[in-house]
Amino acid sequence: MVRKTLRKMECTLGFVQIPASDRSELIGNAQLPCSTKVNGCEAKIDKFGRLWCSVLKNNFSSGSIVELTKTDTGYVVFPVKTDSGMVPQCLDARVENQKDKTMVMPSSLGEDLITSTLKPYFHFNSIYIFNDNILKTEAIEESSIDLTVTSPPYGVDIKYENYDDGIPYDRYLNFTKEWLQKCFDFTKNDGRLCLNVPLDKNKGGQQSVAADVTHIAKEIGWKYHSTIIWNEQNISRRTAWGSWLSASAPFVIAPVEVILVLYKRTWKKAHKGKSDLIRKDFIEWTNGVWNFSGESKNRIGHPAPFPLELPRRCIKLFSYVGDTVLDPFLGSGTTLLACLETKRTGIGVEINKNYCDIAIRRLKEMGIFQTKLATL
Ligand SMILES: C[S@@+](CC[C@H](N)C(=O)[O-])C[C@H]1O[C@@H](n2cnc3c(N)ncnc32)[C@H](O)[C@@H]1O
Repeated sequence: MVRKTLRKMECTLGFVQIPASDRSELIGNAQLPCSTKVNGCEAKIDKFGRLWCSVLKNNFSSGSIVELTKTDTGYVVFPVKTDSGMVPQCLDARVENQKDKTMVMPSSLGEDLITSTLKPYFHFNSIYIFNDNILKTEAIEESSIDLTVTSPPYGVDIKYENYDDGIPYDRYLNFTKEWLQKCFDFTKNDGRLCLNVPLDKNKGGQQSVAADVTHIAKEIGWKYHSTIIWNEQNISRRTAWGSWLSASAPFVIAPVEVILVLYKRTWKKAHKGKSDLIRKDFIEWTNGVWNFSGESKNRIGHPAPFPLELPRRCIKLFSYVGDTVLDPFLGSGTTLLACLETKRTGIGVEINKNYCDIAIRRLKEMGIFQTKLATL
């Protein structure tokens, strides 16, 4: 991967001059000129090592920084942040002449989120990211979602960039009520919700989080199906004992989280679809105690990511191939990675632009631009 600052001429005419020092990495021994692809579109490299493609024309401004990556089928050109933290100006880079195959690159220029937006921050094939507030968003149609898989803020004072996770518990429950209502409206009658929350918490006072959230969900109209216990197998976090070796006031902590499985009106799906479950996984996953490790914050660059295995299991167990899956608290984009892998349409909403960028980077690393058009 090579980073490159674009010059005015490159932006106006629609090419990227591959830096001479990086030519062997990006071009290898190819005979120039040659045909190739950029972001899935026809492109060519001329004899001077300039990569020409119509999607590059008028989509960047002079000084934009792009990342240039060689893939199996051609090249990916992607805008990245500058040192000032701004996303370089990049208008809609629509892939022309390819029905349904649209890539929208970040077009917002680093402003704080002020209003709801209908325009995706990122869109490629059937993966959408909205940099938006789930409480205000108008980007999702009513009764359009088959499955929501999410992990909302837990109210345990995690340091998110745009969200105060240290709010008092009653405010946290009000927030929970608001977003659960929004997602209820977005969900189809036979749609489902897999909601990852802690079983309970003791930071800022002991609270039965899972029980309280279930109660609120049921008040809204969600129906209860079951609870999956996710055993993170992480006991090293244990530091608070209350009263050590004394019955005075010991703390009891279950080192697990849960996934509440809820549905809107009918548990049985209204139509037949294609499942992609194998026997071994079906038997293992329908046992409601799941054992797999958590994800590292440092590795992902987000304060509270869940592991890919969590949305992967929920998606395969509770939705058909081609269904529409929503994550209203997208964070670093894990649910969309699982959607990409399992060929579901994925919609993510995330209030923080930096986290949206992490999600885009992870999708890119997973090879989103190399995926074929979903044959749904
Ligand atoms: C627990 S994290 C989700 C992590 C995600 N599952 C992952 O694997 O990266 C919750 C996310 O919700 C986001 N958030 C908080 N309030 C929001 C809101 N009103 N609308 C959309 N996103 C919000 C936070 O910025 C944070 O990234």
